[in-house]
Amino acid sequence: MVAVLLTCARVGFGAIARIHEDALRGLGVRTVAVIETDPARHDAVRGAGLTPVAEYAEAAAMRPDFWDICTPTGCHAEVLQEISGCAPEAPVVIEKPICDHADLVKLRSTLERHRGPIVVNENYSSSAVTAAVIEHVMRRGLTPTKVVVEMTKNRGRDYLAGRFIDPALGAFGYEGTHLIAAVAALGDARGQDYLDGTIDDIDVDNVALTGADGSVLDGSRWDTDHAEGRVGLSHQGGAFVGYRTPSGCEVELYTSLSGIVGYPCPPYAPAAARIEQSDAVTRYRIFRVDGTAPDGVAHQIVGFYEPLPGLDRGQGALAVYREWELAEHIAPVDDDTMTRHFRRTLDHIAGRGPNPFPPERALRALGLLHRWATAAKSEPGDDSDEVLGRSDTAATRARECARFRVPADVPVQRPGLQGARP
Ligand SMILES: NC(=O)c1ccc[n+]([C@@H]2O[C@H](COP(=O)([O-])OP(=O)(O)OC[C@H]3O[C@@H](n4cnc5c(N)ncnc54)[C@H](O)[C@@H]3O)[C@@H](O)[C@H]2O)c1
Repeated sequence: MVAVLLTCARVGFGAIARIHEDALRGLGVRTVAVIETDPARHDAVRGAGLTPVAEYAEAAAMRPDFWDICTPTGCHAEVLQEISGCAPEAPVVIEKPICDHADLVKLRSTLERHRGPIVVNENYSSSAVTAAVIEHVMRRGLTPTKVVVEMTKNRGRDYLAGRFIDPALGAFGYEGTHLIAAVAALGDARGQDYLDGTIDDIDVDNVALTGADGSVLDGSRWDTDHAEGRVGLSHQGGAFVGYRTPSGCEVELYTSLSGIVGYPCPPYAPAAARIEQSDAVTRYRIFRVDGTAPDGVAHQIVGFYEPLPGLDRGQGALAVYREWELAEHIAPVDDDTMTRHFRRTLDHIAGRGPNPFPPERALRALGLLHRWATAAKSEPGDDSDEVLGRSDTAATRARECARFRVPADVPVQRPGLQGARP
């Protein structure tokens, strides 16, 4: 049994709250109160062995060591204001994205007043896969020429259940902050800003959902396809931005929520080019840095985020290519990003470490996503909902991916255990 080291009060008890509860419990945190506005969820709160309370003051009276905001993004600013009103010095963990762009003024005014530490739960900023990619880039002295981050899954079923629809940021709203976190980490390591650049191509696509009969969305205000039994969602199918940094590095951030795989890379590329709506399990998430070594040899370092076929949940992998040929395959890379990020968060709250993701970083990410989402909406585009970006961008993407080769004799290495098969 893990000793109780800290206590917390949680606001919101939906999908992510349960993941928080498990991860934090494993790290010795006891949840003393849960504020959840939907009474229908109170049984679930009690079922998890927790206590629902109605008022912020009631939770504050229990003097939790920190608060944990797990409500939908649209009420983060309001919830933080409530917490700050009754516990102005309390440490607070807030889910990403930090708030809706429309609530920035309200959020900033609370941030200015609040005296306790605030950590944004941008869990990918604590990813071991991200760190491993960057470590290989640095160790080999690579000068990055191209950076790709892709996060793809089919969100069809979630959409039909009414979840994850973001009218403001569109498809940039879901994985957008995670895409940015990987690029920002590379920038931190190299002392350069990889988030600023001249945009070359930008696109947001729509999604058509199948089998929508009886779904909450058919005919609802979200449904842009007015035909009965079908649902089309505007700007929720996928998002892409390609830009060139001042140092000349190309950056491509890609997220398809209709399951269209953009940058298939062996050995973990999904078998098909598209993750189907019926498949709620498969995800394809990579962080690829192409760079040139001091001897002029081109490398491609590819980190694969979990879940991966053949590995357990929480396990990622790394592949190092020389001139597009696999040279090293390292797996598994233990990468439970949520637990890793909470560990750093709790260290910060306990005064033992720096803030792993302060609000300023999250606000910058939000600003970028808002700028890109606005630009993409006004872009006329080509514009097929089956391809993210211009057709020449997509052709280059496909040509590059076709170059990856995997020789038969590359052994899988465990991290720190050269040459062994897992
Ligand atoms: N870090 C990650 O990887 C990750 C993954 C998924 C979701 N999220 C974020 O977590 C947040 C919550 O997402 P979710 O999927 O758990 O949503 P959800 O809809 O499943 O759960 C939200 C819960 O909050 C409750 N709620 C709403 N307003 C409230 C209020 N004012 N006070 C108290 N309770 C309230 C709802 O009734 C619901 O039970 C979002 O900001 C989302 O972006 C982060």
